[in-house]
Amino acid sequence: MRVYLDNAATTPLDPEVFETIKPFMLEDFGNPSSTHAHGRKVRAAIESARKKVAELLNCTPGEIIFTSGGTEADNAIIRCALATYDIRHIISSPIEHHAVTHTIEHLVDDGKAQLHHVNLDEKGHVDLDHLGELLTKYPGALVSLMHANNEIGNLLDIKAVSDLCAEHSAFFHSDTVQTVGHYRHDLKELQVCGMTAAAHKFHGPKGVGFMYIRKDRKIHSFIHGGAQERSMRGGTENVYGIIGLAKALEIAYRDMDEHKKYIQGLKDRMIELLREQIAGVQFNGDSANPERSLYTVLNVSLPESDEGDMLLFNLDLQGISASGGSACSSGATTGSHVLGALYPQSKRGAVRFSFSKYNKPEEIDYAVSKLAEMYKVTA
Ligand SMILES: Cc1ncc(COP(=O)(O)O)c(C=O)c1O
Repeated sequence: MRVYLDNAATTPLDPEVFETIKPFMLEDFGNPSSTHAHGRKVRAAIESARKKVAELLNCTPGEIIFTSGGTEADNAIIRCALATYDIRHIISSPIEHHAVTHTIEHLVDDGKAQLHHVNLDEKGHVDLDHLGELLTKYPGALVSLMHANNEIGNLLDIKAVSDLCAEHSAFFHSDTVQTVGHYRHDLKELQVCGMTAAAHKFHGPKGVGFMYIRKDRKIHSFIHGGAQERSMRGGTENVYGIIGLAKALEIAYRDMDEHKKYIQGLKDRMIELLREQIAGVQFNGDSANPERSLYTVLNVSLPESDEGDMLLFNLDLQGISASGGSACSSGATTGSHVLGALYPQSKRGAVRFSFSKYNKPEEIDYAVSKLAEMYKVTA
């Protein structure tokens, strides 16, 4: 049996998405910037994809800029917001994705900004009172806090943070890569200035994403070149990617309630089975709390063991693909910076299981039974 439980790293492409992309790979190959019929057809498809994304997120098409994925979108917003608004203070947390932490580190090293970390509680949630204090001290700062943590699944109260940031005229960027396509974002309601998405996290193609930039918080261009993406991001568009992204998002919204219920059921099943079969099992962050964590992610904390370092390797040998850290560094031997920040002294093993609509209950049962065998401490 081969089981894929690493859907926070990437998800399989939905066959419906593939069918939508196919004609643009084979027949409709024009360059969308060309003014002849071949180009116009593709331009129309890109603009209708943008319109679709904007409708789903309740914003305007001009606020959606397609990118190569989440990393580029995070880089673009953080770097360009700072430059555009001459911002000198950044408020963020140590458990953001590396697309954010490393971008900020570079800016700080270059002397362009000072970083202020917001306090986290013992479960890894942002302390909103402390955020309020920092905002009072540094009004107009750039605040970068992710909507959902890709490793532990913790959900941010994005509405409360966006209101707080608006009160203090801060530029609020939220990495929403793990929530776009899994939760509904109403951008008329949320006062977020910039947010990001990657299509491969919701059964779309890899190498494509978007950034949302609120129209009254425009930023300078990130990639200079042609006038593509309203001169915000030069370069011939990833046509298949953009069309696939919009289709994947449409499907995600169409089936969201049903899939959310189904996937939460898989997660609940795994929590229950792990508690039954492995003595001393715990869950990292607020991973086991259905109210405040992603329904797609469960981060399991396992009792200390000599085999701890070999956990993912042994799971892989048993046919189970899971991850021990962030999606982008799965398989890496360096520890997780998120777990390191929350549990600096811990020697417990950790596995992140992440689920999708394609997983089956028997796959959950199989993964738990193999993990329990490795620990051989059945209750
Ligand atoms: C929270 C978060 N932000 C950003 C990214 C980067 O996205 P991409 O790999 O599409 O550039 C990821 C991918 O794992 C992620 O989980």
